[in-house]
Amino acid sequence: MPTASPNPLTVGLSKALLPEPCSLVIFGGAGDLSRRKLLPGLYNLMRDGVLPANFAVVGFARTDLDDERFRALAREGIEKYSRRSLDPDAFEHFARNLFFVRGGFADPAAYAALAKRLDEIEPGCGVPGNRIFYLSIPPSVMGVCVDQLQTAGLVRPPDAPPFSRIIVEKPIGHDLESARQLNATVARVFDENQVFRIDHYLGKETVQSLLVMRFANSIFEPLWNQKYVDHVQITVAEEEGVGTRANYYEEAGALRDMVQNHILQVLCLTAMEPPWSLSPDVVRDNRRAVLQGLRPIAGKDVEQHVVRAQYASGFHHGVEVPGYRNEPNVKPDSTTETYVALKCFIDNWRWAGVPFYLRTGKRMPKRASEIAVQFKEVPPILFNTDLHSPLEPNVLTVRIQPDEGLSLKIATKLPGPKVRIYPVKMDFRYGTTFGEQSPEAYERLLLDVMAGDATLFMRRDAVEASWTWAMGILEAWQERGTRWLPQYPAGSWGPLEAEKLIGADGRKWRAL
Ligand SMILES: NC(=O)c1ccc[n+]([C@@H]2O[C@H](COP(=O)([O-])OP(=O)(O)OC[C@H]3O[C@@H](n4cnc5c(N)ncnc54)[C@H](OP(=O)(O)O)[C@@H]3O)[C@@H](O)[C@H]2O)c1
Repeated sequence: MPTASPNPLTVGLSKALLPEPCSLVIFGGAGDLSRRKLLPGLYNLMRDGVLPANFAVVGFARTDLDDERFRALAREGIEKYSRRSLDPDAFEHFARNLFFVRGGFADPAAYAALAKRLDEIEPGCGVPGNRIFYLSIPPSVMGVCVDQLQTAGLVRPPDAPPFSRIIVEKPIGHDLESARQLNATVARVFDENQVFRIDHYLGKETVQSLLVMRFANSIFEPLWNQKYVDHVQITVAEEEGVGTRANYYEEAGALRDMVQNHILQVLCLTAMEPPWSLSPDVVRDNRRAVLQGLRPIAGKDVEQHVVRAQYASGFHHGVEVPGYRNEPNVKPDSTTETYVALKCFIDNWRWAGVPFYLRTGKRMPKRASEIAVQFKEVPPILFNTDLHSPLEPNVLTVRIQPDEGLSLKIATKLPGPKVRIYPVKMDFRYGTTFGEQSPEAYERLLLDVMAGDATLFMRRDAVEASWTWAMGILEAWQERGTRWLPQYPAGSWGPLEAEKLIGADGRKWRAL
């Protein structure tokens, strides 16, 4: 049985890059993301032996904390959310490298204090001045933060060590215009090769292994085109409702929250051409080319190709739950979509005429994200002769979460004297085969930033290309206006309109 022992030499898709000793400054260090993902993620990397031995983490925020209380906050986050359980000795070692600087994001004195503290801390931690600034704060305060970093002299030039890098959390903008503005603000201070825009979906193990599956095996790529693929379905289903995020979600909706970023990134990896090298910009050029080939959906086409809907009251694990409009902090006449299904095409030689059906929603029956590539039917001869009961087609499914793995549906003969054909699944599960939980997406991505590998991050041009495409839909919705959206009961797979969208093509959504 192979074991998934982490090997620092494998960090980075592009080459054998090593994460370098560095300080990580988390703006918003006392916030939710920091507590749930970043601090536990760093602790896990240390436990796995892949975090550089010399590191420092500095939380920066207005919240009234000091080093000790920041360490206590980290401990609590690790106890609650970490992949690996809290080991007191390991935590003590980890905590020695945690620090906190209290200050406002627009306060120059706070940045001077941060610079001074970093200069004091780094020699003791063995950090040679490499610094990563993580903007784990709302987009509205990112601009001021970037400007203040520059004013305080905290940003070093891109081409000589020690390095300065910046991580920008999603959402990257609310629309094309605001994304351009944020990108321009960051670009005033940082060179593009210092900028790491996070889309944590790209850090998920299966999403990365898609590249390996496609380009490290000889059997898939020859079939990966319009000649053999009937259609592709990408699903990101969430079980939860809007929860406590209504203030954000009311302004966002499912298209902005899921499709414009995560689903399009997954689509890019699924559909991109083989890159001629694994260097970050070559891979990212090919991902962007998919976005450029996406046929625009705008104006009247939007009604034909896109379904939006909202969850109504229903049941979640047998418990009655309210509809979206009755959730706390949601307007009673809200028209924010909690579900989107759409059909799109990539107008290039490889994918000409192959529909890509994308869907995402809240309050679905279960949490599940997957890519399913359905191959064309076999000809109606030999075994596929009954027009009323055609054989089930081959489907290759990549499960992104949960239960990461791959499965291939194939037709086989039922044992016995008669020739009866039955579809079976060949199934590979990461958990079973490798016997260990995959690292969390944030762990992988943090390590990549430390190693300077931007392959799994979004480049400025790709962010703007995906917004350009999404704007066609958003603008059509805005022009049309609406007072009501189709409803689907909480705990169901979406509205009837979505069934019709795919049903009109003689196909149906996969049952997950
Ligand atoms: N949480 C997640 O799971 C998640 C997932 C994906 C992306 N993100 C993104 O990551 C970033 C941080 O998310 P989060 O959930 O950690 O957010 P959060 O807890 O609401 O905010 C993080 C910190 O930002 C500061 N802050 C919040 N609102 C502010 C304002 N109006 N002005 C100035 N400072 C403000 C607060 O720091 P102080 O009050 O202590 O100064 C807060 O602790 C956001 O951009 C979010 O969209 C989060």
